[in-house]
Amino acid sequence: MVDLKSQYEKIKTEVDASIQEVLDTNTYINGPLVHQFQADLEKYLGVKHVIPCANGTDALQIAMMGLDLKPGDEVITADFTFAATVEVIALLQLTPVLVDVDMDTMNISIEGIKKAITSKTKAIVPVHLFGRAANMDAIMEIANEHNLYVIEDNAQAIGANYTNSKGEKTKVGAIGHVAATSFFPSKNLGCYGDGGAIFTNDDALAHTLRGIVNHGMYERYHHDVVGVNSRLDSIQAGVLKSKLPHLDAYNAARRLAAKKYNEALSVHPSLIVPQFDWNGDDHVFHQYVVRLTNGKRDALLTHLQSKQIPCAIYYPIPLHKQKAYADARYNESDFPITNQLCEEVFALPMHTELDDEQIKFITDAVLEFII
Ligand SMILES: Cc1ncc(COP(=O)(O)O)c(C=O)c1O
Repeated sequence: MVDLKSQYEKIKTEVDASIQEVLDTNTYINGPLVHQFQADLEKYLGVKHVIPCANGTDALQIAMMGLDLKPGDEVITADFTFAATVEVIALLQLTPVLVDVDMDTMNISIEGIKKAITSKTKAIVPVHLFGRAANMDAIMEIANEHNLYVIEDNAQAIGANYTNSKGEKTKVGAIGHVAATSFFPSKNLGCYGDGGAIFTNDDALAHTLRGIVNHGMYERYHHDVVGVNSRLDSIQAGVLKSKLPHLDAYNAARRLAAKKYNEALSVHPSLIVPQFDWNGDDHVFHQYVVRLTNGKRDALLTHLQSKQIPCAIYYPIPLHKQKAYADARYNESDFPITNQLCEEVFALPMHTELDDEQIKFITDAVLEFII
């Protein structure tokens, strides 16, 4: 689904030099490259504080630990996302409240959020799914009205701009009270191992989070709060520092590949391609996800696999149907869109190195099955 090797070959000199710097200086943990990457990312995102950590799941968990949330508080998030989003809510003994998504954007439904709010609701976790910004204007408005925290799950959309109703652009992840991202290798900004970060514009929250990532210490061997050990190591920070200057070009390459896929695939009424041009650059295509509405999705995937074309289903099972997160509070009628998407969606290869020949080979294979 991705071609990290070709991407690495183009930036090998910079990446290798960063890794060598860590080896030469023996600064494996918390070294200068971690701080340099942090500062570069703060500047890039236009956010006051970036707190690097070990992975995106930790980033979400630590973000929630830093807020004033108590066991039993309800946290609203989307039914259609990767499990990490809901996992950390449950792990912290908060109550996940899953809501349906919108068909066009596959992002959390604003009406769904409104219906799910109770006196126990304390936070909303919008996920910018597959690289597309959620409707942050509406989410922030609801949050302000009900005094809720907004924790952006930005694992899939780093670098995407969100265009608000006034036409102003802000980087996704710099809008809510706090945001979490992942630097998993296949992410739009990926390292060569695990990595993650938390972003916030709130100085006091940033201070709290910096202690939580480091065993709850604000002063060496003084543990003021219960924390975790979650660090971005210096080698990964070096890789990320080398890759960050390329992120806009990487996202542009993904958008161009998506545009070419769309042009080739928008020819059949059963094949619904992602729309993305209505709102500037709000979609950075972490995944290129299409719907096949004629009931033949699984047969199509078998056909693509027979031609050695990688393809995947994100996500095959809604979270409310997962054993770990099923709950008597949920009714199937609450999740018609997610249930339908899980039956219809499939993802085609999406990365920065896709060329015209590959896109033609892939789209020809899709069309020869469908038409
Ligand atoms: C939406 C979403 N949230 C959170 C995560 C967790 O990130 P990580 O794998 O770095 O823990 C992922 C990773 O795939 C993700 O896609």
